[in-house]
Amino acid sequence: MSILSKNATVRCVKILGIETSCDETAISVVEAEGDLKSLHFRLLGSAIHSQIKIHEQYGGVFPTLAKREHTKNLPIVLEEALQKAGIKNPKEELNLIVVTVGPGLEPALWTGITFAEKLGEEWGLEVVPTNHMLGHIASVLFNKTDELGSEESKVKSKDKIEFPALALLISGGHTELVMMDDWIHRKKIGETVDDAVGEAFDKVARMLGLPYPGGPQISKLAKQAREQGISSNKKLPRPMIHSGDYNFSFSGLKTAVLYYLRDNPEAEKLEVAREFEDAVIETLLSKTERAIEEYAPKTLIIGGGVIANEALRAEFDKLQERYGDLKILIPEKSLTTDNATMIAAAGYIDYLNKTHLALKAEGKLSV
Ligand code: KG4
Ligand code: ZN
Repeated sequence: MSILSKNATVRCVKILGIETSCDETAISVVEAEGDLKSLHFRLLGSAIHSQIKIHEQYGGVFPTLAKREHTKNLPIVLEEALQKAGIKNPKEELNLIVVTVGPGLEPALWTGITFAEKLGEEWGLEVVPTNHMLGHIASVLFNKTDELGSEESKVKSKDKIEFPALALLISGGHTELVMMDDWIHRKKIGETVDDAVGEAFDKVARMLGLPYPGGPQISKLAKQAREQGISSNKKLPRPMIHSGDYNFSFSGLKTAVLYYLRDNPEAEKLEVAREFEDAVIETLLSKTERAIEEYAPKTLIIGGGVIANEALRAEFDKLQERYGDLKILIPEKSLTTDNATMIAAAGYIDYLNKTHLALKAEGKLSV
């Protein structure tokens, strides 16, 4: 049954998005309107339960623990999201359920999928499987998520992306450049050959004795270093910057930090954090600029947890001076790390595209 033809006068679709691919249990209610050429979304309510505290001791995410926590928290997070969105009767008020099926940790993904299926049966709603990476791309389609349901947020998110678009996706599990001719035709033109950039932030933070997740910690220290004029004499490598392709490598950079700390035990954390962050920023910018020059996209989208990084956001903003005609879209900060708001939007796009992913966990699903 099509939700759009169920009632010809229904233009708004209310979607419940569910995300459990990693260490965040997240549910959002999003209102969607329009077709693929003119999409707009409005967040009605969202709730998130982070497992960061639980995984901190392992320095990363521990899959069986993640599964247990998602299972425990999904019903609580659902209730909170529905309540925030003012949904009293989900069976009547909602039109669609969307759930992440990959990429991610399979035991964690399955918890969301099983939960979504159960709700779908209970409420008589279709369940649309979606891709987490498409979610990070779709995260730029929202504005002002802090002003829930405001008219402003609704109007502004319309017609944002002009194709062809280039997406740089930078998270704890992925580092990739994707060319999009439209919402369906997406081609990965480059990716990391080893560690993801967020993973490198997390590992370097650990070497510096900082807690998980390391990105925000390093970025705080790097900022202090810039404010205090502290910089490093040692220049870390800018990996694969001249490789002539769009691939990345962050494992060597991480090892360079390890050797530097071993050989310079009294090195200041501030100095190392800044130099590491600078190396990452320069590498990401250089590859992205090459891709802009070769593929001439009309829009540049940057998605994933690492774009929460203030220094990186500022550098990408500056690109605008160089590429005046390029639309540069960076998600609002609350939508950079994993969330279900972006998942609801991605599912609506998949629904319109009639993309048929299987309702089963696919840990290595590609963008
Ligand atoms: O997108 P995300 O929430 O989860 C995945 O899909 O992987 O990304 C999480 C990653 C972590 O590695 C975290 O350290 C990094 O994003 N991150 C940051 C910052 N905030 C989060 N990295 C650099 N600077 C930040 N401010
Ligand atoms: Zn993610």
